[in-house]
Amino acid sequence: MIDRYRKYLLRRLMTSGDTLYRVGGSAHSAEGSPAAGTGIERSSEPASPWLTPEDGRAKQERESIRGAALFSSPADPPGKRTESASGTIRVGSSKEQPNLFGEAENVTLVDGLEGLDLVALEKMVSTCTKCPLCDGRTRAVFGEGDPRAKIVFVGEAPGKNEDLEGKPFVGRAGQLLTKILASVGFTREEVYIANVLKCRPPKNRDPKEEEVMACKPYLKRQIELLNPALICALGRVAAQNLLETNAALSVLRKNIHFYEGVKTLVTYHPAALLRNPNLKRPAWEDIQEARRIYDEALNGI
Ligand code: URA
Ligand code: SF4
Repeated sequence: MIDRYRKYLLRRLMTSGDTLYRVGGSAHSAEGSPAAGTGIERSSEPASPWLTPEDGRAKQERESIRGAALFSSPADPPGKRTESASGTIRVGSSKEQPNLFGEAENVTLVDGLEGLDLVALEKMVSTCTKCPLCDGRTRAVFGEGDPRAKIVFVGEAPGKNEDLEGKPFVGRAGQLLTKILASVGFTREEVYIANVLKCRPPKNRDPKEEEVMACKPYLKRQIELLNPALICALGRVAAQNLLETNAALSVLRKNIHFYEGVKTLVTYHPAALLRNPNLKRPAWEDIQEARRIYDEALNGI
């Protein structure tokens, strides 16, 4: 078991390019409660309710879940890790962000959003005409959840259902997201969910750069106000735009990043998991890692 875990760590280290490596596991079992069993018990059945036995059960991935379980013991409350390799946790990090306070070139100052609270910001977004997507929208989708949430999930842009309802992730992908959250003990109500774009692109096409540029200050201010301990970027478009990189999602999800000083993880978009169930197992590892970092951050408060 220990040997297998060492191999797992080695594999992770060899495939990571940054200094912050994503290793470790989750304190949560498939049912969303603190893990009470061992990895051996867990590996004999589907690891999560949203995974079926057919979903990408590569041997290597199974091993890494078992290895991750070594960090949990029945005595550990959620988030209390016996070991951590994730580096510093920056809770309340907005105060440390050099461009939040004072710098004239701060884009939120330019856009005049710095005095707005979440309610005022949402109101502004609901009537925004800063990019042509306003023409096609039924409703802008600002985002929703607990304004005190310490974890924020960021998707790409509203789809058809979201545009109609004015809420993020309410379609098929959204239903899967709800299950993914529940599998590590999160309810939608206790997290916060938003998108890079607040209005639906026609036929759900990829966002254009000018649309992202126009909309970015809203998300930036939103995240400043929420001041989470962790952001989880859902999919390539969210990750690349948040992190301002062209790196592939498969690479980005292996490391921990920072958006405006806030620790940021990257995982697959739930819609991608619907198209390719083989991605569900790595996504399951990602969400467990998100839960672990979240718990760790909360314990440090
Ligand atoms: N996909 C997204 O990226 N965001 C949503 O809100 C819905 C689907
Ligand atoms: Fe405004 Fe963003 Fe909607 Fe464009 S996508 S109209 S910038 S809210």
